Amino acid sequence: MTTPVGQKAPFPKEKWWSETESPKAWMSIRDADLYEALLHRLAELRAGEPLRVVEWGAGRSTLWYTSFLETLRVPYRWLALEHHGQYFRESLAPQLNQRPDAVAVEDDDPDALRALLATNNTVAVGFGARDLRPFLPGREADRHADLDAYVSLPRRVGLEWDVVVIDGRKRRRCVLEALELLGPGGFVLLHDAWRVHYQCAWSEWTSGRRFGDEWWIGSRADTDFTDVLPWHAFERHAELP
Ligand SMILES: C[S@@+](CC[C@H](N)C(=O)[O-])C[C@H]1O[C@@H](n2cnc3c(N)ncnc32)[C@H](O)[C@@H]1O
Repeated sequence: MTTPVGQKAPFPKEKWWSETESPKAWMSIRDADLYEALLHRLAELRAGEPLRVVEWGAGRSTLWYTSFLETLRVPYRWLALEHHGQYFRESLAPQLNQRPDAVAVEDDDPDALRALLATNNTVAVGFGARDLRPFLPGREADRHADLDAYVSLPRRVGLEWDVVVIDGRKRRRCVLEALELLGPGGFVLLHDAWRVHYQCAWSEWTSGRRFGDEWWIGSRADTDFTDVLPWHAFERHAELP
């Protein structure tokens, strides 16, 4: 049976995963594009005031979305945190340090970082830990690594933020930590949201919703997020094993 024009057909119910990886971030094309559209919308809502973003788990996304905001010519501040020292030192920091608007450091002194954030659009901080992948079979012990300094740094820096993006280590703790960083108008984003052990932190937020393949978005305000994301963002999400 065909669906009458103007009436939206239900999406199929089968397990969903859009698979193809984006060049913008370590995620699906759909998720990376929705993330970009959300940043665009939130920058617009800031109406000329800087969009202030904390990103736990740096990488391709740090490079892409900060360049995107530069291209839009909107003011922004981006604080990226990366646990993996070797990856940070050998790959990310050299690329960021080539840019006039960015700086990568391995010092987590809050006063020094506040000063850097006053004069740089992007500040990335590396934490010198080894590669930690507790989600891989046989690597469960990685879950016990001490990353307290990585988790607590944005709070120690003590600035206000508009968006917190969680795509690195200690994600459940970062979802809780983000409560201390965002006001009622702020948004927290969590990637790989299908992982059940992150989800107990969601109930601390007034509003929360899955979107895209693997995103979850939360807010301290009472909202359904339809003012910042398109309708199709809320259809079909990945439920990976
Ligand atoms: C799921 S990735 C996400 C990183 C980032 N948000 C992105 O989308 O590009 C999480 C972690 O993978 C590691 N990582 C990211 N890009 C990498 C690369 N090109 N090579 C090795 N490790 C990488 C970093 O330690 C990072 O914190």
